[in-house]
Amino acid sequence: MTATEVFNARLRSVPPGSLYLVAALPALWLIFAVATGQGGADPVKTLELGFGRWALKLIIAVLAITPLRRFAGVNLIRWRRPLGVMASVYVLLHLASWLVLDMGLLWQQALGDIVKRPYITLGMIAAALMLPLALTSNDASLRRLGGQRWRRLHRLTYPVALLAAIHFVLQGKVWMADAVIYLVIVGALLAFRAGIVAKRI
Ligand code: HEM
Repeated sequence: MTATEVFNARLRSVPPGSLYLVAALPALWLIFAVATGQGGADPVKTLELGFGRWALKLIIAVLAITPLRRFAGVNLIRWRRPLGVMASVYVLLHLASWLVLDMGLLWQQALGDIVKRPYITLGMIAAALMLPLALTSNDASLRRLGGQRWRRLHRLTYPVALLAAIHFVLQGKVWMADAVIYLVIVGALLAFRAGIVAKRI
């Protein structure tokens, strides 16, 4: 047995369900920090931005699963669903904290921002595209749609990642190095995906 095979066998012994719990920890930590007065000068922003960042990290983790298998032989396929579902949960928390805590449920103003601010428009499109992904991340949907249609639908992950990364770059008042790094990582993962498609043609 090679070292990678041993490693993969160890990974297989981790129940994928436990990934839901692990991925929930940053949210629980953020909520705990804000509730105990450790949320900094602007606790609402701490929550909102924290949820947004973790959403993007999890989307990137989902995209990285195939390249990791290709290049390093590490098989995390069973983690894809929990990580994807938890990415959607973080997007929902991010959206909810913006709508409720930031906008105070002022729908008119929220709608105005969605239309007028390009970064919010892009974030909203990314979140809307994630909805069918979240709703079909279960065995029943996979059976109903059939493997091919299900996989085709789940290619929405790629535009979601790109829109989310551009949203991150555009939301800053100045260019933020870390936002650009996230965009480059997403770009590299999408280029990898495009490379696979090109080889098939
Ligand atoms: C896939 C969906 C989304 C992802 C991954 C995402 C991710 C992010 C990230 C990483 C940030 C920057 C965090 C930081 O600066 O530390 C951010 C900022 C922000 N996002 Fe999103 N976002 C998404 C969708 C949305 C949606 C749907 C809305 C609202 C309609 C939204 C509203 C905002 C706002 C208002 C900010 C900036 C807050 C500020 O600095 O004042 N995002 N988002």
